[in-house]
Amino acid sequence: MIELVPLPLPASADPIILKDFGREVKGVYLGALSPEEFKQVEGALYKYGVLPFRDVELTLEEQYSLTKAFDPEAETYGHGNNKVDDSKQSILRSVIKSFPRVPQVQLVGNGSIYGHEGIPEVAPKHPNHSTFHATHISQEDSDKGFTRFYRWHMDAALYEYAPPKVTTLYGVRVPKGEHQVVRYDDGTGDELSAPLATTAFVSGKTMFDILSPELKSLAVRSRAIYAPHPFVWMSRARASPTGLGIESEGLELPLSELPPWEESKQKVYPMLWKNPGTSELHLQVHPCAIAELLVDPLPEGSKHEGALYADGAHLKDLKEIRDLLHKMQRPGIAPELIYPHDWKDKDLMLFHNRGVIHTAVGTLNADQVRVFHQCNLAASDDPAGPTTEDVERWT
Ligand SMILES: [Fe+2]
Repeated sequence: MIELVPLPLPASADPIILKDFGREVKGVYLGALSPEEFKQVEGALYKYGVLPFRDVELTLEEQYSLTKAFDPEAETYGHGNNKVDDSKQSILRSVIKSFPRVPQVQLVGNGSIYGHEGIPEVAPKHPNHSTFHATHISQEDSDKGFTRFYRWHMDAALYEYAPPKVTTLYGVRVPKGEHQVVRYDDGTGDELSAPLATTAFVSGKTMFDILSPELKSLAVRSRAIYAPHPFVWMSRARASPTGLGIESEGLELPLSELPPWEESKQKVYPMLWKNPGTSELHLQVHPCAIAELLVDPLPEGSKHEGALYADGAHLKDLKEIRDLLHKMQRPGIAPELIYPHDWKDKDLMLFHNRGVIHTAVGTLNADQVRVFHQCNLAASDDPAGPTTEDVERWT
């Protein structure tokens, strides 16, 4: 019998807002879910966003099958099979490595790993803000246990491949150590105490729900145009201290310097994605990869005082776009809205990649070995945006 248990929340979390965020799932064997059990897990995933399972045994093949069950027509890894390994310029290359036996599943982690699932030797590095942010925490503060969020995102190539519906993240080996303190370093003084090398999650639904009426009206009318090969495009750019987007310093690669690209493979997605299970709207934008913003005019008869871009707009200025987006997304990553997962060996986290955003957190030394298996699949369809009724309701 499948059992759904509310997650243990840290003292920093708002228990009211997070009461329906996440459930631990007990009482099922993930390697062989019956069709009825799968339906229950799928329903719970769309309702709660993140589903940790404890003490899981799962082969690479079983992890791939489990991930694929959410989108049976999906075949390739979210960034294409082996494509990241083959791209010299992608900033994801140092972070993920495909398993030879099941290329849809990736090894992510930290430290020296030998003879693991057909990979003779690999030394992945846990992503750390010091390689990506414009400013860094000093060595002294880092030694005291201060750290940052790395990069808030959903798992998606945002070019050629559609964003995966779910991601499965399996913690085979979890480094042990003290909590670290995440500093936002954005002038707010915000901090979050978090387990070592946690994965931090926030709900895209909450991110939308807490916006002002003006920003809701803008969100429901907006579409993000993503850069071609965004992870190459941003390879020289540097992120803001919260890991929520990029500083506008003009460091993006010119389009002419990108690998060959086609406009037909560029992604244009609504800012709000409709949850297929609950019909709720989730604010789902990759703040680092956005290049342009399209805003539809207000619909007939809803000309509100103070509406932003009431006549519609096509924004191309990166700083303007990023400032606007930051205003919409920053409230949603406040410390009290974050669920930082406290990883234990053999945890499997299943998350609704089209309904939450997440980030790696923390600083690991080379001797703190972390072995995780990650799988998500380029989806067989694009995310659905707001309906006409949604637009009327929120404008
Ligand atoms: Fe991710």
